[in-house]
Formats: sequence, structure tokens, C-alpha cells
Amino acid sequence: MDADGKTLFVESEGGLHLTDHHSHHVHHHNHQLFRQIRQIALLFGVIGVTCFILYHSADSFQSLPHSFYSPRHDQSGNGLVKLKKVLEKAKTEDRTVIITTLNEAWAAPNSIFDVFLESFEIGNQTQRLVNHLVVVALDQKAYSRCLALHPHCYALSTNGKDFSSEALFMTTDYLEMMWRRIHFLHSVLKLGYNFVLTDADIIWFRDPFSRFYSDGDIQIACDFFWGNSSDRNNLPNGGFNYVKSNHRTIEFYKFWYASRAAYPGLNEQDVLNKIKFDPFVSQIGIKIRFLDTKYFGGFCQPSKDLNQVCTMHANCCIGLDRKVHDLKVTLEDWRKFLMLPANLKASHTSSWTAPQLCSFIPVNLPTSAKNNVQQERKN
Ligand SMILES: *[C@@H]1O[C@H](CO)[C@@H](O)[C@H](O)[C@H]1NC(C)=O
Ligand SMILES: *[C@@H]1O[C@H](CO)[C@@H](O)[C@H](O)[C@H]1NC(C)=O
Repeated sequence: MDADGKTLFVESEGGLHLTDHHSHHVHHHNHQLFRQIRQIALLFGVIGVTCFILYHSADSFQSLPHSFYSPRHDQSGNGLVKLKKVLEKAKTEDRTVIITTLNEAWAAPNSIFDVFLESFEIGNQTQRLVNHLVVVALDQKAYSRCLALHPHCYALSTNGKDFSSEALFMTTDYLEMMWRRIHFLHSVLKLGYNFVLTDADIIWFRDPFSRFYSDGDIQIACDFFWGNSSDRNNLPNGGFNYVKSNHRTIEFYKFWYASRAAYPGLNEQDVLNKIKFDPFVSQIGIKIRFLDTKYFGGFCQPSKDLNQVCTMHANCCIGLDRKVHDLKVTLEDWRKFLMLPANLKASHTSSWTAPQLCSFIPVNLPTSAKNNVQQERKN
């Protein structure tokens, strides 16, 4: 555990990962922790292989041992009551909530959370959406900051503990938190709520709901979108998705979470890229749609149309300071666009002045995708 409680998310950095959801704060005195995590990871590897074998020898997913699936952090008891209360208050008429997760670094004044909230203020008809936003705080400081700024805050517990009553968040690593989030979202679906999950480093310019497909169970934004919303070769980004609560999505999230064991060491997004081709996913009958970066863009592949864009994600970006800087630049671009007279808006062609600090070409793309990306960059 980090003594000052600041290391909340350890990011899969090093430029090897396509996207980077969260800030990276690794302190030198954490070597001890990392040694422990390595040992735990090794253990998980062993468990993973065991479960992988179990899974593949089983006729269906349902025969996975239950104790593996919902071990430590089920949304239960007090946590579940609180969660229901928050969701009930924040839901839209059709039981949809917007969910984001926050840690201390992101919640600090003048950091990601402030920029995120500001985007709702200056977006087009996005102000009312804030009433449906549930902020899931991953530690005590993020929870306090949320309470100071926002009506719907939820402290996510781990190991049955409630962060809100703890002085320090018992930190684990990035992977653990991202998987925790998948598990949490599964709980939300089981309670019968649809959700739009948005990383807080995604700024909102317009109401996205009219851009969602009527027939998608899961609709997911992309780092790179190749033009066909049904094509699983698109490269999804787990940081923004719209998921309807039904038996297919509940089954899918259960499978996604359990698949962690089959791919030890991968984050939830990399595992998604594996399991999106899994026959079991077809068997569930789930309809996955990939969202066009024209509406749901990011620094990897920015929307080229300010008249249509709904969101901009600080993906393809490493480091909290860079993200904050470039998101602020992006908000400034948006402000300038809003000030243009209507006729100039319509004919507006000039693109974003960001990313400035964030830009990098991800290196772990499949070769085919790499060629597409290079082509993109030339255009
Ligand atoms: C904002 O939304 C309104 C209503 O949908 C629309 O008429 C207007 O053109 C939008 N403005 C921008 C800048 O998109
Ligand atoms: C889009 O992708 C789906 C799934 O791969 C395929 O069935 C469909 O034919 C594609 N549509 C077009 C227009 O290429």
C-alpha cells in the first residue's frame, strides 16, 4: 500500500498499450508492493490456467465454479442498498445512468474531473445529463471531492469494505481496478439499469443518445473505427460504452469478467479484443455495435466534424498532465467553435488544435490495423 494513499491506479504504461485510461503514479517506495503484486500475479496465473482448463472442459460457462466467479467483492449488503439508492436517484425515465469512475489524482482540483464537469456545462444540451451522472469513487478523497461538487456519488467497496469510511484506500494495481469496474458494471446490469460508461478523460459536447443504435445490446466507442459498426475488427475502447440491461449483457459481462483468468496479465480491454471473437459470445446472441469516431472520437482518431461530434477521449495518451493539458485545449477549440456565427459553423472545416502533448502512434496494433492507422495519419 502506498503510504500517502496516492497510488490508486497503476497504468499499463510504457507505450505498449493502445490506450491509457488512467493516470500513472508510481512511487519509488512501492517496490515492495510490486514484488508482492508480482507474486500475486504469478498465483493468479496458476489459478488462471486452472480455470482456463476448467472452462474449456466445461460444456457451458455456467459450470464454472461459482466460488471463482464472485469471490470477494460482490455488491452485497450495505453496499448494494447504497448503490440502489444512488442509481434510483440518478436514473432517467428508462432506467439509464451515466457512470464514471474517479480516483484521487483525477478528482483533484483543476484535474480531469473538473475538465470533465466543465464539458457538460458548455456542451450543447448536456447540462441536464449531469443529473443522471453517477460518480463511482475509488477512494476516500475522490469520494469527498465528488460530494463537494456533485449530487450522485458512490464509494465503491472492495473486500466488503466501504472506502468512504476508510482514511486510506487500500490500493492495488491498475488491472485490479479495471477488473473491479467490470465486476461493478455487471452488478449494475443485474439490478436492471442500462448505463453509459464514460471514462472521466472523455469530454462531452453533445447528448450522445440520439447517436446510439436501436438494436445494439452493447455499443462501444473505438480507438480506431474502420467504417462498419458491426465489424468486430474495429478496435474498441472500454472507456466509453452504452449497455442495455438484459439477459445477454448480464451473461456477457459475467463471461468477460471470468475471462480474466484465461488471459492472465491482460487488462479488460485487451481481453475484450480476444473474447469478441469467442464462439461463446455468438452463442449468447449479444449484439455488439461499434460507435463511429465521427461522433465518439478520441486523440487516436479525432472526429473530423465539430458539427456532429459528441465526445472526445484523451486516449492514445500517456500521463495525467498531458491529458489535462490537451483536454483543456480541446475545450478551448469547442468554445471557439460555439462562438462562430451559424453560417461559419455549418461550413466549419478547421480541425482540433489538440492533441499537442498526447499524440503517439500505438505500437501494439495488429499489422493490418497499423497500415490503416498510418494511412489515417497521412490524410
Ligand atoms: C445545439 O442543439 C440544438 C438543438 O438540437 C441545435 O438546434 C443547435 O444547432 C445545436 N448547436 C450546435 C452548435 O450544435
Ligand atoms: C459489416 O460487417 C458485418 C460483420 O462482419 C458484415 O456481415 C457486413 O456485411 C459488413 N457490412 C458491409 C457494408 O461491409
